Amino acid sequence: MCFHRGGTHKTIVARGLRDIRRLLVLGIETSCDDTGVALYHGDKGLRAHALASQVDLHRPYGGVVPELAARDHVRSLMPLVVRVLQDAGVGSQDINGIAYTAGPGLAGALLVGAALGRALAWAWQVPAIGVHHMEGHLLAPMLESEPPEFPFLALLVSGGHTLLVDVLGVGRYRLLGRTLDDAVGEAFDKTAKLLGLDYPGGPAIALAAGKGRPGALCFPRPMTDRPGLDFSFSGLKTYTRNAVPAGTLDEQVLADIAFAFQDAAVDTLVIKCRRALKETRRRRLVVAGGVGANAELRTRLKKAATACGARVYYPRPDFCTDNGAMIAYAGWVRLQAGCSEGLDFTVRPRWELTDLSAIDGPPA
Ligand code: KG4
Ligand code: ZN
Repeated sequence: MCFHRGGTHKTIVARGLRDIRRLLVLGIETSCDDTGVALYHGDKGLRAHALASQVDLHRPYGGVVPELAARDHVRSLMPLVVRVLQDAGVGSQDINGIAYTAGPGLAGALLVGAALGRALAWAWQVPAIGVHHMEGHLLAPMLESEPPEFPFLALLVSGGHTLLVDVLGVGRYRLLGRTLDDAVGEAFDKTAKLLGLDYPGGPAIALAAGKGRPGALCFPRPMTDRPGLDFSFSGLKTYTRNAVPAGTLDEQVLADIAFAFQDAAVDTLVIKCRRALKETRRRRLVVAGGVGANAELRTRLKKAATACGARVYYPRPDFCTDNGAMIAYAGWVRLQAGCSEGLDFTVRPRWELTDLSAIDGPPA
């Protein structure tokens, strides 16, 4: 995506804002099945955020239906914008910039947020910026009270991505490892469906695993017996399918399978993080994306990182999954650095994190 510099400054000066860091940014997230809107202010921090979940809409299908997702974003988005402005006690004249998720994600869903974000920016005469969804996840811990300093290692684990990234600064990303097939969240979702569990699968597997017996079953830890930091989860999913006995599934057997699956998936992530921490000698590990809400993963990663002399940083559980706050923040970071885009816009359903431009130094 092409960012041109200077537009932000011009517009803000015209509005009498003396300190560019004191931007109030409206963030819009519509990349998948959650409509998220938030307001972030450079001085005051997060002013308001709201989310409309589509879980009930997609539940009957056991997965996200792209066309239904896009239509529901159309219904939910503008009322959420109005609500967030009311909650923060601000008017449209107070907004200095707009950030919307431009990718990666579902094309139709992304277009809803991008079109509204761009239209509002034109109507309110403020700059707009398309945010990379995974950069939003990666920067989400910056919204917490003790944010990590750069550089840090980041494990990004969502429904569509499994990435290990060495983060030197905003836009300075070195990809260390990625999944060769299914994302870990996708493996949770598909395994849950296989076991007849609720949608979305991640929290459902975690709940069922709570009643599982440790040691009853043992599943493989894919790609941990060879060097490197890439992942593969489709084999674990197939292994799980083969472990399901024919006929009606006994509740205890189901819990044991959920336990063994979660144990193997979490262990695999922990092994690779430990390896990456040792290789990079980083002292900070950021964990973000929907699977970062998994309690077992959080506990085990904390233990492993501490043993390596490192500290783990998470967003609060609500900001692990998709939300508007992380997009408002990531947008603020880039807008205050002088990045913005022209009136034309596009979305990028596929977009590499490493394609992003670096901004000049981290935000103070
Ligand atoms: O980041 P996210 O909200 O959306 C994407 O960008 O994909 O991540 C959603 C993924 C889903 O696969 C969901 O099953 C998984 O995160 N997830 C979890 C948990 N909560 C959400 N996976 C494991 N344990 C959880 N507690
Ligand atoms: Zn996400």
